[in-house]
Amino acid sequence: MSAAKLQDSPAWQQLQKLCNDWGATTIAKLFAAGPERGSKMTAQACGIYLDYSKNWLREETLVALFDLARERGLETRRAAMFTGEHINSTEDRAVLHTALRAPASAKICDQGANVMPEVHAVLQRMMAFCDKVHQGEWLGATGKPLRQIVNIGIGGSYLGPEMAYHALRSQRIAGVREHFVANVDGAALAAVLADLDPAQTLFIVASKTFTTLETMTNAHAARRWLVAALGEQAVERHFVAVSTNSEAVAAFGMNPEHSFGFWDWVGGRYSMDSAIGLATMLAIGSAGFAEMLQGFHAMDEHFLHAELEQNLPVLLGLISVWYNNFWGAQSQAILPYAHDLARFPAYMQQLQMESNGKRVDLSGTPLAVDSGPIIWGEPGTDGQHSFYQLLHQGTRLVPCDFLGFLAPMSAFADQHDLLMANLFAQSEALAFGRSAEELRSLGVTEAQIPHRVSPGNRPSNLLLVDALTPFSLGALVALYEHSVFTQGVIWGIDSFDQWGVELGKVLAARVESDLKGTTQHAHDSSTQALIERYRASRS
Ligand code: F6P
Repeated sequence: MSAAKLQDSPAWQQLQKLCNDWGATTIAKLFAAGPERGSKMTAQACGIYLDYSKNWLREETLVALFDLARERGLETRRAAMFTGEHINSTEDRAVLHTALRAPASAKICDQGANVMPEVHAVLQRMMAFCDKVHQGEWLGATGKPLRQIVNIGIGGSYLGPEMAYHALRSQRIAGVREHFVANVDGAALAAVLADLDPAQTLFIVASKTFTTLETMTNAHAARRWLVAALGEQAVERHFVAVSTNSEAVAAFGMNPEHSFGFWDWVGGRYSMDSAIGLATMLAIGSAGFAEMLQGFHAMDEHFLHAELEQNLPVLLGLISVWYNNFWGAQSQAILPYAHDLARFPAYMQQLQMESNGKRVDLSGTPLAVDSGPIIWGEPGTDGQHSFYQLLHQGTRLVPCDFLGFLAPMSAFADQHDLLMANLFAQSEALAFGRSAEELRSLGVTEAQIPHRVSPGNRPSNLLLVDALTPFSLGALVALYEHSVFTQGVIWGIDSFDQWGVELGKVLAARVESDLKGTTQHAHDSSTQALIERYRASRS
């Protein structure tokens, strides 16, 4: 079904009506009317408990949202993705990141060829390599063990491994330290290399295309740094590559045997469980990585088989659509109450905004409704002391996803009660607020009351996970991947291309040669003046 017809669909019209008729209903009133709401509006799978009761949802809202999913063909599209149909139609590619975590016995085909033998062959090679590094069989050029790992990559070739490195801090192999260089600003590379001993450093050049400007620039600079210290012959021991472009890897001067491949049916932002996860495997070991894949796979199975009404990714995706399209929410906050998940919101930004930041549907027709929301966030409790003021008393609607873990993540376990108390208190305060009457009963002056009232009725989901482990991290990421997919199906867009990032890359290449003075392209007067100012400062 095309997005042009989206607003004519019966379920869409029903949702619009429910929104128009919402009246003065508040989350507090919904709870008063249905005391079991807090236990009823929940679902769980793969060790993740979703409480979606503190939302602007009635039974009939949910029924209409599930109707919408069915009308838009979610079940058919989901089957098409899992079976390797080329649902990334603008690039004519299958979307098979789910194959990366499927068991070796599975049969998943792209254009008739089973991809599973290759997937598991690469996994085996990655595991053998990591075991060698960990056991000191793979040594640097001077015979020292390689304990400092530098991942050079950007976007999907960076955000997942970096997020996982921090998230799985407690699972790390002793002695292994990882560093991530993404930005083309030489300061990023310089800051990392400043503290490293070339003789103990292993570089992973991670790039699906092996042409990305930032990554190739940093990789060549790192190569020069290594060669200056240890000589040309050291490159072979100190550089490995992860890419789909084996020719470019060879051209860089790397031994193809030290390269780990993946396939064009893995989107960059869906690749942390492919060979792009080599840094993750080096950090937590092959067994930890295998456990993470099991978590991904468990959520894939849940998404594929659970009833829509109990399906975590479907619920999250549809709730997001409800606020985005019917209530005009422009953004959504991801708020993990886990210091180790500090980079999770950044990872979510690429996953969600690169996937669903689209303006036309699959047929190329401009969308008549908004697509993907702006995703942002910080870990709790840090965010409470910066932007939560706006969440509680600002004028904007910002639906929130709170994430928390039952098990403490550190030896300072007594602090976990405080962390979790803050998490539960924030979702409670957002939903129920504090009224003028309550403030009066506390003796607050009339002049202060308008400033101190928290209106409440601010919606949130709360995801409560048993523990932050490789398994649960895999399940969490897959949960959001499929939520993004669900939303993309509702809008009828291609969630797997990213043409919008191309123009900036093309223009940057033109401007760079203008900055050097080797070309003089025509620019608008603003850009031209900026180029001239920069050139004057450099000369
Ligand atoms: O700029 C967007 C993008 O193409 C992302 O989709 C991708 O994750 C990133 O660049 C890095 O690309 P590559 O892995 O090819 O270097």
